[in-house]
Amino acid sequence: MSRKTDQPVPPYFNLDPETAAAKLGDPIDTARFAKAAAFAAKGRDDLAKRGYSPDGQKRLRKFSVWEICRYLIPVNAAHLRRVLKANPDLPQGEGSAGAKWFTLEEVLSLRNHFAEEGVASKEYKPYRPDGLPAKVVAVANFKGGVGKTSTAAHLAMSAALDGYRVLVIDLDSQGSMTSIMGGSVEDEWSTVFPLLAKDYALHVQRENGVREAQGQAPLPLDETLTEALQVTAKDVIQPTHWPNIDLIGAQLNLYWAEFQVPVWRMSQRNWPLWDALTGFLENEDVLNQYDIILLDTPPALGYLTINALAASDILLVPLGASFLEFDSTGRFFDMLYSTFASIEEGENAARRRAGLPEMKFEWDVVRALITRFDAAQQTDLANVIQAYLGDFMNAYRQDYTALVGQAGEQVNGIYEADYRDFNRETYVRGREAFDRTYAEFKELLIGAWWRDSQMAEAEQKEQDNGEA
Ligand SMILES: Nc1ncnc2c1ncn2[C@@H]1O[C@H](COP(=O)(O)OP(=O)(O)OP(=O)(O)O)[C@@H](O)[C@H]1O
Ligand SMILES: [Mg+2]
Repeated sequence: MSRKTDQPVPPYFNLDPETAAAKLGDPIDTARFAKAAAFAAKGRDDLAKRGYSPDGQKRLRKFSVWEICRYLIPVNAAHLRRVLKANPDLPQGEGSAGAKWFTLEEVLSLRNHFAEEGVASKEYKPYRPDGLPAKVVAVANFKGGVGKTSTAAHLAMSAALDGYRVLVIDLDSQGSMTSIMGGSVEDEWSTVFPLLAKDYALHVQRENGVREAQGQAPLPLDETLTEALQVTAKDVIQPTHWPNIDLIGAQLNLYWAEFQVPVWRMSQRNWPLWDALTGFLENEDVLNQYDIILLDTPPALGYLTINALAASDILLVPLGASFLEFDSTGRFFDMLYSTFASIEEGENAARRRAGLPEMKFEWDVVRALITRFDAAQQTDLANVIQAYLGDFMNAYRQDYTALVGQAGEQVNGIYEADYRDFNRETYVRGREAFDRTYAEFKELLIGAWWRDSQMAEAEQKEQDNGEA
């Protein structure tokens, strides 16, 4: 006797080729992409009309007395209220006496007041040695989706809350960081593209000086390069809804740089293509106008990422505690080694021929950083990764938190979310994940600055001794 089972067959059995072919439609030609793009653009507008668009004007929320005293200024609430009462010129906040809310501008000016008038033993303002340039921080990994943008955005915001002046540069043509910062970027002229072009154009001009002296015809500059020569920092830097975060944004056209940079390099083999961003930051006084310059990079080791890495003092490499992410990160370090070693080799060969001193790339500190960490599932793996990466790795593992990305497209980070929207405990724990990431970063930052200031002092002494 056979019994009929009513188990359904798996969905990939009994498929019919002829029916399948009928469903396929005609082969796809290039033009079909244009059609898909046009439909997507229509859909996008439709979604934007329904309120899904993340690129509406962003506004930063206000901060309560509880938050200010808990997270931003080391004073207790009663004392803060007394100080406000005694100083009617200070921002008084909005709302009823028991529940006042302040804008970040107001918080910053309250902090200034405490830094000037408060007890000297308390740290109201974060450490920043005078006379030294901003620190440039790149967040990079070849692997996609490891938390580069989330880490960079949260670091920018926590540093801003801490009182630093921050410039964020989005080098990823996907523009996620730009959306988080509420930036508007019409085309490549509002991205770093013209800065790279300008660096190349200046190089060509210098070459032309040499050629002219040798009686050779000058190299022509095309329209793009001529226009790029006019672009300055203020043309590409835009303010954000954060009073102390500025942005150089990105959008899809920035990807063009990945094609254009090698073409320029082909025509001028001695143009140091990795130095274009560094050149901009140094020559246009950007390093003196900010405390921290944060670079968000695409998941690739292209020319934009190479520029970011070459410009950076601090390199953070986020990765999840999984086999694939660890494996890929190891390869990323290998690619960094071969890329920068081959640049050094080529450069130094040329420099030796010209009788110039040799160059070498150097970073204050490089740290791998575990993101989206789930202690229940990933502790073993993270321990193994920690053992192999050793002092190349941060101690703190950034916990997975449902608060990131959950708050919808308009709010992209825990620091922008209003804690009243969450259970207080959930908020405190989620926030701690990023506060601790920031704390460990801040320690690297101020350590690097302190080391620089010691060196500057020693140099100054030597110079004084030499003159005496
Ligand atoms: N600590 C965290 N807890 C929970 N989710 C997180 C955390 N950090 C990042 N994510 C989420 O992981 C996803 C990938 O993060 P993110 O976009 O920052 O990665 P990325 O490395 O910048 O990606 P890409 O390579 O595409 O630029 C996002 O959906 C983000 O919200
Ligand atoms: Mg990203």
